[in-house]
Amino acid sequence: MSSALVTGGAGFIGSHLVDRLLKDGWEVTVLDNFSTGSFENIKQAFETGRLKIIIGDAKTIDLTEELESVDYIFHMAANPDVREATPSVHFQENIVATLNILEYARKIKAKCFVFASSSTVYGDALKLPTPEDYGPLKPISLYGAAKLAAESLVSSYCYTFGMRGVSFRLANIVGPRLTHGVIYDFINKLRENPKKLEILGNGTQRKSYVWIEDCIEAMMHVLKSLEGLRYEVYNIGSEDWITVSEIADMTIESMGLSGVEKVFTGGVDGGRGWIGDVKLMNLDISKIKATGWKPKYTSREAVKLSIEARLRELGLKP
Ligand SMILES: NC(=O)c1ccc[n+]([C@@H]2O[C@H](COP(=O)([O-])OP(=O)(O)OC[C@H]3O[C@@H](n4cnc5c(N)ncnc54)[C@H](O)[C@@H]3O)[C@@H](O)[C@H]2O)c1
Repeated sequence: MSSALVTGGAGFIGSHLVDRLLKDGWEVTVLDNFSTGSFENIKQAFETGRLKIIIGDAKTIDLTEELESVDYIFHMAANPDVREATPSVHFQENIVATLNILEYARKIKAKCFVFASSSTVYGDALKLPTPEDYGPLKPISLYGAAKLAAESLVSSYCYTFGMRGVSFRLANIVGPRLTHGVIYDFINKLRENPKKLEILGNGTQRKSYVWIEDCIEAMMHVLKSLEGLRYEVYNIGSEDWITVSEIADMTIESMGLSGVEKVFTGGVDGGRGWIGDVKLMNLDISKIKATGWKPKYTSREAVKLSIEARLRELGLKP
């Protein structure tokens, strides 16, 4: 049995990871400051009596005082808002926090550091689908820049201090317990005004979506094949992509609405939703597929399932 620390374990991806690790018999500790995460997400896990929760800030906490040792560290805590444009927020929440957790990993001699990175490190990639060795990496958002900086720290700690590590460059992950993103926003807006839906940009932004269970399975699958390796980077995506406008139509249909006026803001810089919005994102997943994993669901299926899940959470669907 292995032990794990999951930072951000009360959030969307983190809480699903916690469920999976407990199911597989791991000993799990969550570190979370509950800024976007919620106790509700890990209530069931907590009730198993096998989950330890540390309430604290990844940027500043001295974990050596709280948790003597763990084998694996899954660093999921972050400010995940790509639209956030305050440089210090991304510097603190996504770089300083990663450094602090890496310091803990170094001190306790953790076996493996798993980092939740993002497709946004690629910026406006000229090659689509984009493979892990694409470069030069030119993020166009502060979020993407912070993720790339954090990846570099993880890599350097692995080589300098003898840990194993992996950065997962995630496409858009969707499913129950979402805390942000296009599906979450559209449903909120349509609940407020079922006659009109404001869509950021020109609606032609086209991206890849992954069902949460596919994402967790991908991470667990890769961990099995890291033996003997120092540090690796893997894309986690699906093989298709869909437009924001299609997601709007699917949301409207799932909510049983008709005659909704779709109002496109037009966006910035050729139809981006906001400054820093990557218009086209599709990840090459050949590297992870070579390990034997492949997504069960397409982008379209993942989005559809996620809309239904969100509507159930809100009590709007049985
Ligand atoms: N959801 C996606 O589509 C997606 C895509 C690419 C990358 N990611 C990355 O995956 C990770 C998880 O994202 P998510 O979608 O689950 O977001 P989320 O907001 O649901 O989860 C983040 C969790 O981290 C916690 N947290 C934030 N700052 C913290 C801090 N300073 N100290 C302690 N806890 C803190 C939050 O309370 C929350 O529980 C993030 O690193 C995010 O950048 C997510």
